[in-house]
Amino acid sequence: MDLEFRLKAAFKTSADPAPGREAIENFINNDAVTLLSKGAPEGEEAKIENLEIGSDRIGVTITSGRYVRAHDAMIRLRRPLAAKLGKEFHIGIRGIEVEDFKITMESEKDIGNLKIPHVSSMEYNDGKLILHLDVGEAEMENRVPDRILTLMEDKIREKSYGAKGEHWDLLWQSEKKEIIFAEDPTQEMMKQGWLKRGASRGQWIHGPQSTKLFRTFEKIVLEELLEPLDYREMIFPKLIPWEVWKRSGHAKGVYPEIYYVCPPKTRDPEYWEEVADHYKVTHEVPTELIKEKIGDPIGGLCYAQCPPFWMFMQGETIPTDEFPIKVFDRSGTSHRYESGGIHGMERVDEFHRIEIVWLGNKQQAIDTAKELHERYMHIFNEILDLEWRKAWVTPWFMAQEGLDGVSEEREAGTTDYEAPLPYRGEDGEWLEFQNVSVNGNKYPSGFNVKSQSGEELWSGCSGVGLERWTSAFLAQKGLNPENWPEEFRKRFGEMPEGFSFL
Ligand code: SER
Ligand code: ZN
Repeated sequence: MDLEFRLKAAFKTSADPAPGREAIENFINNDAVTLLSKGAPEGEEAKIENLEIGSDRIGVTITSGRYVRAHDAMIRLRRPLAAKLGKEFHIGIRGIEVEDFKITMESEKDIGNLKIPHVSSMEYNDGKLILHLDVGEAEMENRVPDRILTLMEDKIREKSYGAKGEHWDLLWQSEKKEIIFAEDPTQEMMKQGWLKRGASRGQWIHGPQSTKLFRTFEKIVLEELLEPLDYREMIFPKLIPWEVWKRSGHAKGVYPEIYYVCPPKTRDPEYWEEVADHYKVTHEVPTELIKEKIGDPIGGLCYAQCPPFWMFMQGETIPTDEFPIKVFDRSGTSHRYESGGIHGMERVDEFHRIEIVWLGNKQQAIDTAKELHERYMHIFNEILDLEWRKAWVTPWFMAQEGLDGVSEEREAGTTDYEAPLPYRGEDGEWLEFQNVSVNGNKYPSGFNVKSQSGEELWSGCSGVGLERWTSAFLAQKGLNPENWPEEFRKRFGEMPEGFSFL
C-alpha cells in the first residue's frame, strides 16, 4: 500500500432510517459497489468497510487508494442513496458529518511537524506518514483532501531526493575574449563617483554616468530589437495585489522575497496624529505603533514585472488577427528581498528592467522567442562585444514558485543569458544578465485569456535587467569609454560630467 484514505463519516438523515434498513444494506452491498469501482483499476476500488445505522444517521467507513478517493466515494453515494430513501421511505439526507479522516502515505523520511490547514495532526512511524484531516462536507467537495495529498507528496519527494536542483544545459557559447579589465565594476564606479548606495537595503543611487549607461542600453534594445520587431510600449502597475499573484502562481512560493505593502487602516489625520507627534517629540519613527495602524498586506512591490500585464487581458477573447501580440514595459522598478551580505550592483533589492511580453498560438510564441534570440545575439556580439553564453534552465516561474524541473520537449522553458565577470577569476560564477522564456499556456490559462479561433494560447517574456547588463559590460570592458567597443561608444556619445564633493 503506498497510499490509503480512511474515512469514517455519516449521512445525517431527516428521520430515523431504521425502516429502510434492508434497502440501505442492499444499496451498500450492491449499487454502492458498482458506483465505487467506476474509474478505478481492478482491486483499487473504494470499499465500504463498515455500516452503522443510527437513529439519525447512516454511518460508513470507507477506505480507498488514489483512484476513487474515500471523500469522493462519500460524495458519490449521497445522491443515489438519498433518491432511494426519499422515494421509498420519505427520509431525506441532511448532510455529511465527518468523524475521522486519515491519510496514510509512504515516506522514506520524516518530514517534520508542519502546519497545514485542515490537518489536525501528523505522525511518522516506520516509513509511514499518517495525516489526520479536519474537514467537513464543504472541504471534501472543494477537493481540499486532494490538495493536501499533492502538497505532501511534493514535500516527501523534495525530502527524499534532496535539495532542489536547478536545471542547467549549455545551448550556445561565444568565443573567449581577452581580459582587458579585472576589477569589480561596482567598486570602481563608487571610486569614480558614478553611484552611491541608497538609504535602503540593496539599493543604489545612480549618478549621471551610470544613468547614461542604462539609457544607452535601453536605446539599443529599442532601436535594435523592440522597434524593428514591432513591439508596443505599455505601462504595467508596480504594486501587485494577491489576486495577480494567485493567478500567476507566485502565491505558491514567493513569500521570502517579497517587499510587502500595507495600506493605512484609515487616512483620517486624527488617527495618525499620535504617530506624527511621537516623531516630532522623540525624532524616532514609532514603527510598533505604525504596525497597529496599518492593515494586512494587500500584496507587494513589483517582483517579476510581467504578471500585472495579464490583468489587461484577463477574461478577454482576442481576435485571431491580433496575434502575435508584442508589448514591453519599462515604467518602473522591481523589488526582491535578496540574500543578506554586501553585494554590488549585480545583486540588488531594487532594480530596473525592460520586460518584454508576447502572446499568440504555440508556434507564434516559439517563433517570437526565436526572433528575440537572434536580435540579442546581434546586440551582444556586434554592439557590446561581450563574452557570454546561453543555457536552458529551470523556467523562471517554476523557480519563483519554488519548483524545479524543465520540460522535455524544450518548447516551453527559460533560456538564461550569462556572462563571465573577470574579477571573479577563471572559475568564478557567471552572471545571469537576462532571460528569454516561452511560458506555455500558463499565463493565458491562469488569467483566462482566449483566442477567437479557440486555439490554445501561449505566451512568453524576456527580462532585460539593466543593472545586470551594466555589471556584465563594465566587468568585461572597464569604465574607460576609450576601451569600449566602437559600436557602443557611437551610441553612448559623450560621458556626462559627474559630481565632485569637497
Ligand atoms: N518575468 C521574468 C522574471 O521574473 C522575466 O523578467 O524573471
Ligand atoms: Zn516575465
